[in-house]
Amino acid sequence: MGAASVSDLISRYGGNLPRYTSYPTAASFTEAVGSQQVAGWLKALPENEPVSLYFHVPFCDELCRFCGCNTSVMRHEDGRLAYGDLLREEMRRIVALVGEQRTVRHVQFGGGTPTTLPPHSLRQIMRSIRTFFQVDPQAELAMELDPRHVPQDYPALLGDLGFTRISLGVQDLEPRVQEACGRHQSFEQTQASIQAARDAGVSGVNIDLIYGLPYQTVESVGATALKIASLRPDRLAVFGYAHVPWKQKRQRLIPEASLPKSEERLAQRAEIDRVLQAQGYRPIGLDHYALPEDGLAQSAQAGTLHRNFQGYTTDPCPVLLGMGASAISMLPAGFTQNITSVAAYARAMAENSDSLPVARGVAFTEDDKLRGAIIERIMCDMAVDLAVVGQGGDFSEELAQLHPLEQDGLVKIDGQKISITAFGRPFVRHVAAVFDTRRRALQQQAQGAGQGATPQFSAAL
Ligand SMILES: C[S@@+](CC[C@H](N)C(=O)[O-])C[C@H]1O[C@@H](n2cnc3c(N)ncnc32)[C@H](O)[C@@H]1O
Ligand code: SF4
Repeated sequence: MGAASVSDLISRYGGNLPRYTSYPTAASFTEAVGSQQVAGWLKALPENEPVSLYFHVPFCDELCRFCGCNTSVMRHEDGRLAYGDLLREEMRRIVALVGEQRTVRHVQFGGGTPTTLPPHSLRQIMRSIRTFFQVDPQAELAMELDPRHVPQDYPALLGDLGFTRISLGVQDLEPRVQEACGRHQSFEQTQASIQAARDAGVSGVNIDLIYGLPYQTVESVGATALKIASLRPDRLAVFGYAHVPWKQKRQRLIPEASLPKSEERLAQRAEIDRVLQAQGYRPIGLDHYALPEDGLAQSAQAGTLHRNFQGYTTDPCPVLLGMGASAISMLPAGFTQNITSVAAYARAMAENSDSLPVARGVAFTEDDKLRGAIIERIMCDMAVDLAVVGQGGDFSEELAQLHPLEQDGLVKIDGQKISITAFGRPFVRHVAAVFDTRRRALQQQAQGAGQGATPQFSAAL
């Protein structure tokens, strides 16, 4: 490790950075990619290419002040049923382009809180999936849920429909933090949700925690991590709170003075890491943990982990078909995102009976594909061998840019091989960013517009 102090590191590596769930990142999406182009990309999918499916449900039972997701409360069941119908209709339109009976490896319902879909709606969607596709018997079927609002019959419904995994938000157990976040959730509510899912045969459990929330301390996040580890979820995601009030108005309700500063955030992250590793969890990538016998830990060990818009995954499938307002799809030719607002998404679906509700996207260049592969390995393996992944390209400029990070003990460079040190793990996005040539153009734009940091992204530390 280099001689730099934590405050030196913070001043050198502050600013805003993408989370690199994709490359190019969503900041590069433009309206130049529209419905017709995406229809062409879908039609061009190789015949036997399997697919994964993502359904975005942007509704919640109540809204949390810290939440950066684009969500709303839809009280009327009719509205939620109508949304479920739109998801099925969008799936029908996509299947008309990609053809029926493709193998499905992974199905995820995310949001928001997808258990706001009425049971009848979820049953219909699952029936359509099984009609249009061949769901691999080993496929993972996953759903996010909010432990404060699990409809009574939902765990049994998920078991009945073949779901294999739930993902629950916890964030923090401390009452003062919960009060500031507008999210009151007892440990018992979380425990009961997990038990109900396990009783129904849904055995995979992910839990989300956050550090950097208002009033959190090193001790409080450590206590939360320890208590949550006692529930033995097989996976945890530990996110740094992304405070982006210029993008997400509800975060303006969080007083800035209550937010831990970068140094405290790093210490909180380190404490959660210490507690979870002591409880038998393995660190995975930037922000995940898994029990050693879990598939995610095994993929990480084997170097076969992947990263997509849902975060880290064992799913190797190169095609992700996203449905619903704001859903993102990953295709061999590029990324595409649907219209964000539910009303505008519904209008676009109603206006034209065949077109896709696409708002924006990005077509890959060959350079994007190469850099995307390098960045994915960095984010997943904490290492990359440019001699293997770099396709003979010249990365001498990037290696030179990494030199100061090596001096600071964050990376080791051995010829073409870059490895992030255990100390450097929180800085993995800085290493990825060295290979992100599109970000430089965005930075120049932001500077031209008089903005200091790149506004699309959140704090790097
Ligand atoms: C779709 S929610 C999880 C499911 C469910 N809605 C719930 O809250 O329990 C997505 C997750 O994103 C994370 N998240 C949301 N806003 C965030 C922010 N501003 N910074 C960091 N993580 C955030 C939280 O950990 C949250 O659990
Ligand atoms: S954290 Fe979950 S429940 Fe809270 S607003 Fe975000 S998506 Fe909804």
